[in-house]
Amino acid sequence: MDNTVTGLQNVTASEPDPVTGYRIFRLGDFEFSRDAYFATIRWPAKGQLRSHQMHADDFLRAMMRDVAWGFFYGWVNFDEVIGTRNHYGKVDMYAGAYNANFKEAGVDHIQQFDTPIIMATFKAILKDWVNEGFDPFAAPEETGSAFGTKHGDNIAAIERTRIATRRMPGLEGDSPLRDDLPVNRQFADVVQDEPEVHAEPGFEGVLHAFSLFKYLSRSDVTWNPSVTSVCQQSLFCPTTEEFVLPVFHGNDRVEWFLQLSDQIIWDVADKDSGEPRARITMNAGDIAAMPADIRHKGYSQKRSMLLVWENATPDLPKRYESGELPPYPIQF
Ligand code: PHB
Ligand code: FE
Repeated sequence: MDNTVTGLQNVTASEPDPVTGYRIFRLGDFEFSRDAYFATIRWPAKGQLRSHQMHADDFLRAMMRDVAWGFFYGWVNFDEVIGTRNHYGKVDMYAGAYNANFKEAGVDHIQQFDTPIIMATFKAILKDWVNEGFDPFAAPEETGSAFGTKHGDNIAAIERTRIATRRMPGLEGDSPLRDDLPVNRQFADVVQDEPEVHAEPGFEGVLHAFSLFKYLSRSDVTWNPSVTSVCQQSLFCPTTEEFVLPVFHGNDRVEWFLQLSDQIIWDVADKDSGEPRARITMNAGDIAAMPADIRHKGYSQKRSMLLVWENATPDLPKRYESGELPPYPIQF
């Protein structure tokens, strides 16, 4: 391992493997390697090196979300074993720490890193492990394969960040309406008209409207909420969903889902143990509050539109964790 490989500042990586072509990466006590089919994560626990494997495509889709979302709110479980917890400035990497069986066996491990260090390592892994033709943001029907020995790369795909509007897309100086992107094959029936805006003199550039359905019909990514309206700490984060949410997101606050079209089924589990708690079918028009003490993963059998409503009030994680706020928005 050396950390002087060109372009990998702050990242500890091996030379490319002569057989697979992929580098091995080290982040503190954790080691990440991949072969043609699998990503393997190793960590020390109880005096031995433990290991866990994921299908390379699932691993890359999960890691891509963690990078694009800046580690998001709370927990990003790549699967039942590994994941990250955001402390907003520092990030925990863990294996088995939120899995009841790993905890009981004492083979879990958790280590905290400054955000720039773990971010640089995850970005370097994506850069090295995503092959030409594979887009970790795309639905399986819309991308090539993640598998095989190393062949090329896909920098344009992995350098997408989520669109974060300051007020609303299309306003002067704000994020664009993305009219340049084609309408997705599964949203061919979505009307493409924009609303007419007639502002009174003096309100030009203040009063604004756009068609959210048109906007979403042209999204080229899945399971990647963008921020499309910002009103103080209230963030509307709509997204288009197809296949599965590549992570099991553990909430550090309540968040709301409004199903805008089609259907998503959610698996909901205990945030700490992973024990299943609920399975929810949401059809167009349904609204659900996701409590602050759960993790969830969504399944969308065709591309659908979902509005995620986030509360960005800075001290919320502490207030939920201390029990000051109940995990549900309403007590029935
Ligand atoms: C969530 O974890 O709340 C979440 C993440 C990404 C999505 C939708 C929901 O696309
Ligand atoms: Fe969530």
